[in-house]
Amino acid sequence: VTNQKATELRLSDKAETRIEEVKALYPDQRSAVMAALYIAQEELGYVSKEAIEWVSRKVDMAPVHVQEVATFYTMYYKKPVAKYHIQLCRTLSCALRGMKDLSKTVHEKLKVAPGEITSDGLFSFEEVECLGSCGTGPMCQINDRFFENLDAESLLKLIDKIAKEQPNLSLSTVNDSLGEGLPEAGFSQLK
Ligand code: FES
Repeated sequence: VTNQKATELRLSDKAETRIEEVKALYPDQRSAVMAALYIAQEELGYVSKEAIEWVSRKVDMAPVHVQEVATFYTMYYKKPVAKYHIQLCRTLSCALRGMKDLSKTVHEKLKVAPGEITSDGLFSFEEVECLGSCGTGPMCQINDRFFENLDAESLLKLIDKIAKEQPNLSLSTVNDSLGEGLPEAGFSQLK
């Protein structure tokens, strides 16, 4: 038990404080499971086995139930991703409007298979199910930002722009309230 305790993951003071603040918002601390997963992912880059155990301890839920939540939602990365993780929606609306072209384009441009990371560590991609933006498909999510009404040309332009400017496309649950913290850096639209 002592050895097990010694290897328990501890996040930064900021993250440890943040999860306590979030838990205090709810009558039942299990309600903070999604925020806790976000906080762990922000620090570790993805939801590792240690992160699942950390969340489990923080919100007093069995690891298997934390794992169920993590695997249900695409915004939790189950394996390491690049600085910019492209999630291409492959569900019906996006599929009918040309998602296959986007997938081929990303594949050829980045020269990595889904789940792999480019050699410069900048990009990774995967195909995911509906991201809830069906009226503006085909679309993708890069980190926490949606890019909609894409075609091969605009997607290539976007990838080049991100590689060059390396903007912050991630929300922060540690520094900000949920839904804040994402700067408008001209990346909501391709101009
Ligand atoms: S089908 Fe692509 S966002 Fe819903």
